[in-house]
Amino acid sequence: MNWDKRHLLDIESLTAEEINLILDTAKAFKEVSTRPIKKVPALRGKTVINLFVEPSTRTRTSFELAAIRLSADVINFNAEASSFKKGESLRDTVRNLESLNADIFIIRHSAAGAPHFIARFLKGSVVNAGDGAHEHPTQALLDVFTMLEKKGRIQGLNVTIIGDILYSRVARSNVWALTKLGANVTLCGPSTLVPQEFEKMGCRVVYNVEKAIKDADVVNLLRIQHERQRKTMFPGTGEYSSLFGLNYSRLAMMKPDTIIMHPGPINRGIEITSEIADCERSVILEQVTNGLAVRMAVLFLVSGGKSPKDIL
Ligand code: CP
Repeated sequence: MNWDKRHLLDIESLTAEEINLILDTAKAFKEVSTRPIKKVPALRGKTVINLFVEPSTRTRTSFELAAIRLSADVINFNAEASSFKKGESLRDTVRNLESLNADIFIIRHSAAGAPHFIARFLKGSVVNAGDGAHEHPTQALLDVFTMLEKKGRIQGLNVTIIGDILYSRVARSNVWALTKLGANVTLCGPSTLVPQEFEKMGCRVVYNVEKAIKDADVVNLLRIQHERQRKTMFPGTGEYSSLFGLNYSRLAMMKPDTIIMHPGPINRGIEITSEIADCERSVILEQVTNGLAVRMAVLFLVSGGKSPKDIL
């Protein structure tokens, strides 16, 4: 198939074929990153705006590097030093930036739906880099890419996601991507943060962590998002880590080839012990590496690239 979408706003609206096309394109771009010259001309002459209105390390830098590797011009918009501070609206901000002939807007925003909102009136492309607790599509794509690389398949894979599911855009995007591709997804965490409602998305909800990890091929730990939580919904970090944190005794209950994932940033000692975050079964930094290839693929496709065959 060929890609025909101008934006990447979420995983929910993608088909399995579209997800697979992004993954195949990312595989081709991962090869590009092993060449002595790691740059291709695919986005030469295009302008990419990195519009991050929430903090980010991994997503912002890998989108910037992805755009550079594709030969685009990149502007890193500094929200703290911008006229947002004088009360300028999001709509006026992006319309002014579009007047500078920007072609692609990569947006992270605390408001769910912000990327969809700007996509309604911008002529250029919009890529969602995380919107509130709604979706983080490129994180899910890089997670699935890493699982595919490590396990060779997604169909029938047992993936357990543990943590703050309710507030997690990473969890939502992962559930959409994994269920569309045929994985068996288990969600686990405190009942206040993992409502049974999530079963309607086609996954299993389990409150006992030992049961949730026993048959998992992949365990993906999510960050406890203190910035999005109400105190009444969270048991406290000590209690959380004793009930749901990944430690050596829980690692011993897993299959010997289960891989450990985390989107970052890690709260070391809360959702995962420091030793396990850095152990050989952890693929956390490989996820970051794969994020670059996935984001190159997304920028390439939304700007008119049709398939991996078009990459030089
Ligand atoms: N995983 C992730 O989105 O990390 P950043 O917030 O650092 O981009």
